[in-house]
Amino acid sequence: MKKALIFLLFLIILIGCQAQDKVFSFQTATNHRTSTFETKSTPIINDSKNEDNENESEDLAKQESDPSVVEVEDPSALDVVANKKRMLPADYVPENLVVPNVPFSFSGEDEKRYVREDTASALEELFAGASEEGIELVAISGYRSYERQAVLYNHYVNTNGKEYADKFSAQPGKSEHQTGLSMDVSAAVVTYSLVQDFGNTTEGEWLKNNAHQYGFIIRYPEGKSHITGYSYEPWHIRYVGKEMAKEIYGQDVTLEEYLGYE
Ligand code: DAL
Ligand code: ZN
Repeated sequence: MKKALIFLLFLIILIGCQAQDKVFSFQTATNHRTSTFETKSTPIINDSKNEDNENESEDLAKQESDPSVVEVEDPSALDVVANKKRMLPADYVPENLVVPNVPFSFSGEDEKRYVREDTASALEELFAGASEEGIELVAISGYRSYERQAVLYNHYVNTNGKEYADKFSAQPGKSEHQTGLSMDVSAAVVTYSLVQDFGNTTEGEWLKNNAHQYGFIIRYPEGKSHITGYSYEPWHIRYVGKEMAKEIYGQDVTLEEYLGYE
């Protein structure tokens, strides 16, 4: 009887410690910028079909050899363009990846929390500016390694077929999420999902009209898929710095048009 009581007490203490750890790790990740880089995932809200599925084949997507695809010269440049014609080196990992101090849709450590340091500062300003106007945004997905992009892309091809997958998912090496300059953003009103309806919400409208003030552009605007190569993604913002972002917004052009990469 005494042994059973001691065992029960031990169990209660153990469960209590684990619960605290969980809360603590979430607060750590959301309230303090950290540069520790680990890859674990504990999503509490599904990232929608455009995002994660950890259980799929980890085979790297086989890239067709296409002589018109070039490797970018400087993947760390603020004006780098990664798209269907311009690839990043497979082993490129940006320096200074950090976790921005903004709310995320999930708890736990994950590489998708990270962005470049310059992007993190600008993102924190953007989220604070939005919040001051009563707009509560949530970060969904930032940096993605080449390997992770391969897993995602393969999953969409297996699930939806290549033609459909190619409209919203980049092949590994061709996603600008690998640059650490991008973040997918959503809001409670669309249950933190990455859907085109987000563009019609107050939050999505705010992002479209104000992102440039903080150095970001809507990278895949509506009606420009023949230039960008991807369907409208009102949730995907890309850091280019305030000067370039304001010009791109003012001229109502894509990054490809602005830089002459059409
Ligand atoms: N959804 C964008 C195109 C990507 O996969 O990088
Ligand atoms: Zn994105």
